[in-house]
Amino acid sequence: MTAITAPDGSLISSLCFGTMQFGSNADDNAAAEMFAACRKAGLNFFDTAHAYTGGKSETMLGKLAASERDKLIIATKVNFDDGMSAKVIHRSVDESRKRLGMDTLDILYLHRWDDEVPLEESFGALAKYVEDGTARYIGVSNYAAWQVMKAQTVADTFGLKIAILQPMYNLVKRQAEVEILPMAISEDIAVAPYSPLGGGLLTGKYASGATGRLNDVAMYTARYGPRWMHDAAAELAEIGAELDVNPATLAIAWCARHPGITAPIISARSARQLSPSLAAATFDMDAALYARISALSPTPAPATDRLEEAI
Ligand SMILES: NC(=O)c1ccc[n+]([C@@H]2O[C@H](COP(=O)([O-])OP(=O)(O)OC[C@H]3O[C@@H](n4cnc5c(N)ncnc54)[C@H](OP(=O)(O)O)[C@@H]3O)[C@@H](O)[C@H]2O)c1
Repeated sequence: MTAITAPDGSLISSLCFGTMQFGSNADDNAAAEMFAACRKAGLNFFDTAHAYTGGKSETMLGKLAASERDKLIIATKVNFDDGMSAKVIHRSVDESRKRLGMDTLDILYLHRWDDEVPLEESFGALAKYVEDGTARYIGVSNYAAWQVMKAQTVADTFGLKIAILQPMYNLVKRQAEVEILPMAISEDIAVAPYSPLGGGLLTGKYASGATGRLNDVAMYTARYGPRWMHDAAAELAEIGAELDVNPATLAIAWCARHPGITAPIISARSARQLSPSLAAATFDMDAALYARISALSPTPAPATDRLEEAI
């Protein structure tokens, strides 16, 4: 596996903390408490994006990270809504660096695939940042596997390697198992999946009548609408109660256990919420428990249909 390291040479931590809630559900105090809890737990990997909370997420993360910059791996993503033209990439990167107060971005992701812009244009723009030291690693988010491989052939022409992917992946969103994770293992690409708790569903709180993002944000209500997903979350909560382990810890540890996963991106609105997710860093999930939890949701169909002769 290509080793992703901080500027001081330390290896990437087994969990990443995502700051999408900074400046909305998490104010300055909550953000500082969560950042401190992550550092105490040994995390050195932090994720933000140009698109988050009108820039507040990058600004808040930049302030918190400033005093120990070289020990940290700071990832941001190019503007989401306006596409991936060179012009948008340059504007987005300039703004992100100013907001973060950082000359160097450890990981620079394209936030999504863009059908309208030739890959040569997007990756040519990224290549300049790697050449001049502005970006240490290049990544892509929300790409299908074929899009990663197509983009890598273009990246090759600039001497670039796609070092890391950021797909959605959790117990009720397992599409990445079919092509993305096997590809990442085969091609030596790191993977930092987002939404390991299914936006909070897998904490079990909805089964017990509590509320959160799935009530407040229509996109998440729809994404996690199917009844079977809620049933799986309720069953995960039952396993948690039986083992006396928080279901959030189980959900993150399950996500992290796949051999293709480098570091799930955990997140929360408070240090209290974050605590069981951080506990996954030291939770040892054995093969039997992994299989039992995996059985709570359908295993996605394989990428090829000729199954009768499978060995
Ligand atoms: N590349 C992309 O397109 C993309 C998309 C999404 C996220 N991301 C990145 O991935 C990070 C994580 O994504 P995510 O926020 O969707 O992750 P997640 O772990 O699936 O969901 C986190 C949410 O779950 C709820 N939660 C967490 N712990 C809880 C607890 N103990 N009790 C009750 N509720 C709890 C909170 O939401 P409520 O309190 O609101 O219920 C929290 O904001 C983001 O910060 C961002 O950096 C990237």
